[in-house]
Order: sequence, then C-alpha cells, then structure tokens
Amino acid sequence: MKGNQEIKKQLEEIPFKLKRRLRIFDRGSAPYIEVDGRQMINLTSNNYLSLATDPLVIEGAVAAVKEDGAGAGSSRLIAGTSARITLLESKLAELKNTERALVTTSGFTAALSAIVALVGRSDGIVIEKSSHACLISGARLSGSKTIFFRKNNLEGLTRALKKLRDRSKRLLIILDGVHSMDGDIAPLPEILNIAEEFDSFLLVDDAHGTGTLGPNGEGIFAHFGIKPSEYVIQMGTLSKALGSQGGFLAADKAIIDLFIQKSPAFIYTTGLNPAAVGAANAALDILAKNNERVVNLRRNISAFCKKIGIQTSKTPIIPIVIGGEKETIELSNKLEAAGCLTLPIRPPTVPKGTSRLRLSVQSGHRFFVETSEHASEERYLVLLRSRTAE
Ligand SMILES: Cc1ncc(COP(=O)(O)O)c(C=O)c1O
Repeated sequence: MKGNQEIKKQLEEIPFKLKRRLRIFDRGSAPYIEVDGRQMINLTSNNYLSLATDPLVIEGAVAAVKEDGAGAGSSRLIAGTSARITLLESKLAELKNTERALVTTSGFTAALSAIVALVGRSDGIVIEKSSHACLISGARLSGSKTIFFRKNNLEGLTRALKKLRDRSKRLLIILDGVHSMDGDIAPLPEILNIAEEFDSFLLVDDAHGTGTLGPNGEGIFAHFGIKPSEYVIQMGTLSKALGSQGGFLAADKAIIDLFIQKSPAFIYTTGLNPAAVGAANAALDILAKNNERVVNLRRNISAFCKKIGIQTSKTPIIPIVIGGEKETIELSNKLEAAGCLTLPIRPPTVPKGTSRLRLSVQSGHRFFVETSEHASEERYLVLLRSRTAE
C-alpha cells in the first residue's frame, strides 16, 4: 500500500496545467471535427491523406470484418495470416519498390521486430538521437553496442561507425526519414553513401514519409528517386497517411525471411485485425488509382504555410517552436478557443526549452480552396501568424 500512496503523491506533484489528459473525441482523425458542440479545424492528426474517414476505406474495413471476422485469432505463424494480409504485403512491397513486405501489428512493433532480429550483442548500432521512441527501444532491446549521433550530423555518424567497425560483426544505422517532431527530411543520399562505405545495414523509419513524399506517396526513397539496395530496410506504419492501423517492414526477401524467423515482436503476438488490413488495402487502392490526395496535401501545405507567414514545408508536419511548456500549452488553449485544435508537444518528447505546437496538415483541409481575405483573417490564423512573426 505504501507504494500506491507514493504513486498518488508523485501524481499530485505534477502541476495541474502540465498534466497529460486523455480527452475524448469523435472522429478525432478527421480534418474538421466537432468538440463540445463546436466545429473546429483539426491540426493534430497524422491522417495526412484524410483516408481514415474515407467511405471506401471504411467499406474496406467493414467488408474484411464480414468475411474474416473481428479478430485474427492467432499469431501470423499459426492461423493469423489471411489472403488479405498477403495481398496487403504485395501492395506495400510494390509501393516501397522492394522484393517483399511484412505487415506487423503496429509501427512500434515493426521497429522492434526488425532491430532485434537483425542485430544482437556482437553487433553495433548507430542511431539518430532524435529517433522515434520505438527505434530507441528496439536498439536497447537488441543489446547491441549503441552510439547516438545528432540529426543530420554526418561527421558524427561516420565517427561512430569507425568506432564500432572493428568491434561489431554487423553494423546497423537507424534514423527517421521524416523527423516526426521537426518535419524535415533526412539527407538520404549522403547517408546511403556512408552506409555503403561501412558495409552497414540501414533502417529508415518512413512512418511520416509514406503517403506524403514521392510522386505518388511512395515515401522517402521515391522522393529522392533512389531504388533501395539490399542492405536497406524501410519501416512504416499503416496508421498515419494510410488511415488504418498496423505497421510494416519492406526489404529484400532474405531480410524479411529473417524477421519472420527471429522477431519475438512478430512471432509472439496476434496477427493484425482484419478491419485494419481491409482498410489499408482500400487506402492503397485509392493511392494506386491517382495522386489527387497527395497533390491536394501539397497544395494545402503551401497554402497553410503562406497563411501563417512561414516558408513552405516539404512535409505536412509544421512545428511552431515556442520554448516553455507553460506558454506552449497556453497558446494551444487560446487556439482551441479560436476554433483550432493543436497538440502541445513537451519534454521528454522534444528537448527541454523546445516545447512546440506540432501542426499537421491534411489533404482534406480547405486551405488552398479558401483563398478569400475573410478566410485568412480567421482568428486562429491571426494567432499563429503573430507567433511566427516573433
Ligand atoms: C516516426 C514514427 N515511427 C513509428 C511510429 C509508431 O507507429 P505506430 O503508431 O503504428 O505504432 C510513430 C507513431 O507514433 C512515429 O511517429
């Protein structure tokens, strides 16, 4: 009981304004939502292509549930692999320009599955410091010798690889393709050259590049016009631009086979549920038909950036760095009162002193359609502009 009292005390010590809360939203992924009876623009969701609420994607989920049932029932290695999931894997392999793809229950478990299968105690990892928590957790879990390098610091990356080269059987470089809190894109061509020089595997987390980068939303490799080589593993999630849930890995057949044999996070968990598989299949069909949503997303990103007075962004993630936690929460509250839902991001998610609003644009927003003077004078845009002008 003493333990429980200590936990209560620990919770009481967090100031009310800084306490994280679980709020309830209806259709929280949609570009426009109703909150407490008020219409709001939603700048919090990673549903970049507005596919989560698309009628065809919903229909895909419903049809899959009707035929395959509500749950997968067992691990992928028992009876949890359906024809639908292998169809999804072939579509993902095509999108990512790889021999094969493997669907997992989330992006987080995709990262754990890949890293733990590929490297162990006798190997070395060089990982970007600002990588997503799933990549850092995977590196820790693998037991590999691990060195962190600062984002875009290619000299630091090279130094770390040199240090590990003679002490490691296998080397693995890990990084985010699109930095999830900054919205910038990794210098992939330079990183690939370094990986090749050191004969290192490269794991790129394309969670935020899938659906948003490349001519048709293929991701970071298509953005740079590069065919992934045999030492590259692309990781991603079905739960952002593709509007569903689940994760995936895309790579050469031999690497995917290794993941199937050696990944506890893939082997010892129930296969992805049919609804998520059906929705992701339908989302990829929409993407394959034409790039209208990707183009509309880019138009919205440019129009939004212009409206808030900043240079245009290459990705839908637009950070407004405020600094202090309290000020960031206060601005988010003011924006909410002005009809705009935003997400205040604070340490430990971002470094101390860089608390920010992480704004996400969607293809279903109306920024490039609403060009009138009146639309630009919306109170939330004025508030954001006053911040970006500082
Ligand atoms: C960069 C990055 N990688 C991985 C993930 C995890 O994906 P999922 O939500 O499918 O577990 C996320 C999302 O939360 C992410 O932002």
